[in-house]
Amino acid sequence: MSDLILRRCRIQDQPELVDIVIQNGVIERIAPSNKQSSGADTAEIDVAGKLVTPPLVESHIHLDSVLAAGQPRFNQSGTLFEGIQIWGERKGSLTAEDVKRRAREALELMAMHGVLYVRTHVDVTEPRLVALDALLELREEVRDWTTVQIVAFPQDGIYSRPENDGLLEEALRRGADAVGGIPHYELTREDGVRSVIRAFELAEKYDRLIDIHCDEVDDEQSRFIEVIIAEAIKRGSGERVSASHTTAFGSYNDAYAYKLLGFLRRTNINFIANPLINITLQGRMDTYPKRRGLTRIKELWQNGVNVSLGQDCIYDPWYILGTGSMIGVAYMTVHAAQMTGLQEIDACFDMIGKNGAKSLHLQDYGIAPGNLANLVVMGVETPFEALRYQAIPAMVISRGKVIARNQAARMKFEG
Ligand code: FE2
Repeated sequence: MSDLILRRCRIQDQPELVDIVIQNGVIERIAPSNKQSSGADTAEIDVAGKLVTPPLVESHIHLDSVLAAGQPRFNQSGTLFEGIQIWGERKGSLTAEDVKRRAREALELMAMHGVLYVRTHVDVTEPRLVALDALLELREEVRDWTTVQIVAFPQDGIYSRPENDGLLEEALRRGADAVGGIPHYELTREDGVRSVIRAFELAEKYDRLIDIHCDEVDDEQSRFIEVIIAEAIKRGSGERVSASHTTAFGSYNDAYAYKLLGFLRRTNINFIANPLINITLQGRMDTYPKRRGLTRIKELWQNGVNVSLGQDCIYDPWYILGTGSMIGVAYMTVHAAQMTGLQEIDACFDMIGKNGAKSLHLQDYGIAPGNLANLVVMGVETPFEALRYQAIPAMVISRGKVIARNQAARMKFEG
């Protein structure tokens, strides 16, 4: 006897509708759609041919700073640097309760938007490691309905203060899932290179993933991505490595960018772009023409490189908007990366789904027997429609249980 059957599901790239049979929180089987009821004891939901996807994936967010805009003041210039300054004023007063309350609220927002895999960075240059401990606790508390991955992120740089290297290593000892870095914010180019190598050493020592904030500036001379690529090639660990932001890639001259794309064929590192925030943060020093401040999302995709997407921020000192919707992020990507071809729009949808799962190195992602019954019922029939209408999922199922039902906004013309 099964617990729940989702009838008449449309699965991406499959021509026939299917029924998804769920038992004990796991997908038991997927069968051609059958109109016959399975029996009185089994709950059934008729999806009526709507798109059913695995959960969406948030590849990059900062849960320690979400929902903290205006504390203690709003960012008036809209720049990265004023954001870092405001966060510097706020982080001394962080408490575990404060971090957990805001982070949990953000996770709930995301879950309602069908996002059930979340990679968060957490600032580990705050000496008490309050936010890290809070998020490690929260990761366990929410484990029965969402999956959180924590990156130990040295916001102020590993080598900008003597204690930061030790704090980063301590964060891994306490259980962070991945090592972070911010080489373009280290005091010198040499410190930046050293910080990338240090992240790889720590990842090997503690058997963790790597996700480095890399070249998040408009400076075309910021070239730490080449160091990440080189280390990944030499160590053969590319699939466990992500380079986040890499906005300077959009400013490199084409000859250098072409060389990098060639090197990328020798390793399979992941790129994570955050177009909502970077299109507003970057290019602030430009007059006109004004750069978009994005990495080369389209060209990376065309070259077979795995690209996934993040919100980075929700209502925080860097970005005052944000809803928790990854569909909103993919929608922005279609525009900002000029990916308006039909295949390109589908590719942007993949960037918040299976590509994200690859960046997060998830082993059991997707709609398949034996996997957790984590499913999103969209109110539309295709990924294209999901982006065109900026869809809100009709229903979100986690571990076989419906955890959110949403009424899509309906407009009615009565003229
Ligand atoms: Fe970030």
